[in-house]
Amino acid sequence: MSTEGRAKGVVGELIARSNRLGSDPRNTNYAGGNASAKGTAADPVTGEDVELLWVKGSGGDLATLTPAGLAALRLDRLRALASVYPGVDREDEMVAAFDYCLHGKEGAAPSIDTAMHGLVGAAHVDHLHPDSGIAIATAVDGEALTKKIFGDTVVWVPWRRPGFQLGLDIAAMKDANPQAIGCILGGHGITAWGDSSAECEGNSLHIIEAAAAYIAGHSRPEPFGPVLDGYAALPDQERRAKAAALAPTLRAIASHDKPMVGHYTDAEAVLDFLAHAEHPRLAKLGTSCPDHFLRTKVKPLVLDLPATASVEDAIARLTELHSAYRAEYQAYYDRNATRDSPAIRGADPLIILVPGVGMFSYGKDKQTARVAGEFYVNAINVMRGAEGLSTYAPIDESEKFRIEYWALEEAKLQRMPKPKPLATRIALVTGAASGIGKAIATRLAAEGACVVVADLDPDKAAAAAAEIGGTDVAVGLAADVTDEAAVRAAVDTTVLTFGGLDLVVNNAGLSLSKPLLETTVADWDLQHNVMAKGSFIVSKAAARVLIEQKLGGDIVYISSKNSIFAGPSNIAYSAAKADQAHQVRLLAAELGEHGVRVNGINPDGVVRGSGIFAGGWGAKRAAVYGVPEEELGAHYAKRTLLKREVLPEHVANAVFALCSADLSHTTGLHIPVDAAVTAAFLR
Ligand SMILES: NC(=O)c1ccc[n+]([C@@H]2O[C@H](COP(=O)([O-])OP(=O)(O)OC[C@H]3O[C@@H](n4cnc5c(N)ncnc54)[C@H](O)[C@@H]3O)[C@@H](O)[C@H]2O)c1
Ligand SMILES: [Zn+2]
Repeated sequence: MSTEGRAKGVVGELIARSNRLGSDPRNTNYAGGNASAKGTAADPVTGEDVELLWVKGSGGDLATLTPAGLAALRLDRLRALASVYPGVDREDEMVAAFDYCLHGKEGAAPSIDTAMHGLVGAAHVDHLHPDSGIAIATAVDGEALTKKIFGDTVVWVPWRRPGFQLGLDIAAMKDANPQAIGCILGGHGITAWGDSSAECEGNSLHIIEAAAAYIAGHSRPEPFGPVLDGYAALPDQERRAKAAALAPTLRAIASHDKPMVGHYTDAEAVLDFLAHAEHPRLAKLGTSCPDHFLRTKVKPLVLDLPATASVEDAIARLTELHSAYRAEYQAYYDRNATRDSPAIRGADPLIILVPGVGMFSYGKDKQTARVAGEFYVNAINVMRGAEGLSTYAPIDESEKFRIEYWALEEAKLQRMPKPKPLATRIALVTGAASGIGKAIATRLAAEGACVVVADLDPDKAAAAAAEIGGTDVAVGLAADVTDEAAVRAAVDTTVLTFGGLDLVVNNAGLSLSKPLLETTVADWDLQHNVMAKGSFIVSKAAARVLIEQKLGGDIVYISSKNSIFAGPSNIAYSAAKADQAHQVRLLAAELGEHGVRVNGINPDGVVRGSGIFAGGWGAKRAAVYGVPEEELGAHYAKRTLLKREVLPEHVANAVFALCSADLSHTTGLHIPVDAAVTAAFLR
């Protein structure tokens, strides 16, 4: 086989192994760990074979790794770095030196773990963060346990911050222990190796499974101590109701320094942890694996009240605990910061634990919040394993601080792309499965918001949400806006799905165009129920959350040109639109003190994409004007000053403008999006 063919084969095996290992959560946490392979490829400069290291680059996830996510480095140059290595105090400089070892400029940026993979004398290396392995790594007698479980086949390497020195340590350990298949890295995870990719994978799985089996066979029956009276999980419905009632306050707590998106879970592992006596002590000790505490902060905020505590008592206590948490985090920063440390990044918790209810986790977007929660579940599994065998002993606070405020970590954060204008904002759009509402939901999501698509038909709502993005971006749900209980349930689902609510669009509507004498009381009621009463119900349910969250917010009404324009055959629709338009002003006046802005939009003649027009009304209007139905939009355009057809996207643009920072000082306003109809000018 040619050198190129062999290189492709090595990379292919590495990707397949990475994907297999990464897709089983028992093997490593999301985006945690890395895998590598060494092999030869042709040097395009000399045409000669050179030895390369392919290793998962910075930031990627093993489960979904592709060749583009690998960094490719010249092995001779990488290993030569050992001779210029200035010592552990300056080991960070070696990361910049990796760039001088790259084989071409394609591929991902090398991660901090690159040295370990390059320096260890084996063709294939895996470094993983399995819960079972970290349980051994964080047990106070982890070294003795490692000997007991593995004999001399797996060696203990004491905690050391990831970096060049850790790579040297592991390489030296392997040289001194030729029989070893891998090691337990104190406080952190595992590393395994092999001469072939299959052997390496087998060794990784052996360490993970043997550790898990040992824990299962030797653990105390109640690793988290006896059951705590009153701390058991609440029954399903009660638990969900309490979670929804607490969510706005919890988001306010997590967002004191900067706004956060949330994730809620009542996973069995979390409820079980909180139901047992040792959880306050263990939670205080914090997480240990660097991946875990970078996403969860050093420790969570734990509500110290039983599951049966009332919502009011819980909120009062949480407020006290929040102040204490902030003071403690500031003290942790002050104790550990040096002159060169980056500035404090905010003192609010990222994980909040509520006995009987579950865990709320927070991040700059839904994915980050969800993964933080996953990592705390990993940490709970680790604590259960370690406490089952021995005593959980995570790494020291000062070491955690060195990683949390590491210059390399700070640089990574600085390299992150600027957040989108609506990042962290959570939107609920009614009637969003069709037409204007769907365009609004799509635009808000494109600007970084998390979006809930609410409509009458759950399947249509789910389909529209799926078109907009995955469930970290948009979810669909059924909510008839005329039904107060359904609207409350939709708001509850919103706060449980994304942690809160910031932006509400009252868009749901329908149009029955009839002259007065043909308008029935039922017609009148339907128009008013959906648009006037529906918006009132939605605004009321949403305002309760907005006020508790203390983050301000936006309510936008999709009114209509017809809220001010008076024409024939429109009594029920236009009167309901006028009602909505006045709600804008009334609520702007009432909610201003909470930082909630309430504005409206007056569209007109939005034919394309509109279910209102497609449902027969468009055909009727076209017949009235004597134009083919497909030209109705163009016909309306001719009646405007700008002679432009209005599309759903134009209404969506106006919603975005109203909710963007540029209009932060505007409330009680209506914006016409009608290509200019003189009769509907606002005065
Ligand atoms: N199309 C226009 O020219 C125009 C002009 C001015 C104002 N508007 C207003 O814009 C909004 C959207 O209209 P569109 O043209 O996109 O119509 P559309 O029919 O395409 O969308 C309206 C959506 O609202 C939903 N809906 C109806 N009743 C509901 C209820 N009780 N609960 C929840 N959802 C409900 C429908 O299922 C539909 O998906 C309406 O309020 C409408 O009055 C439209
Ligand atoms: Zn690691």
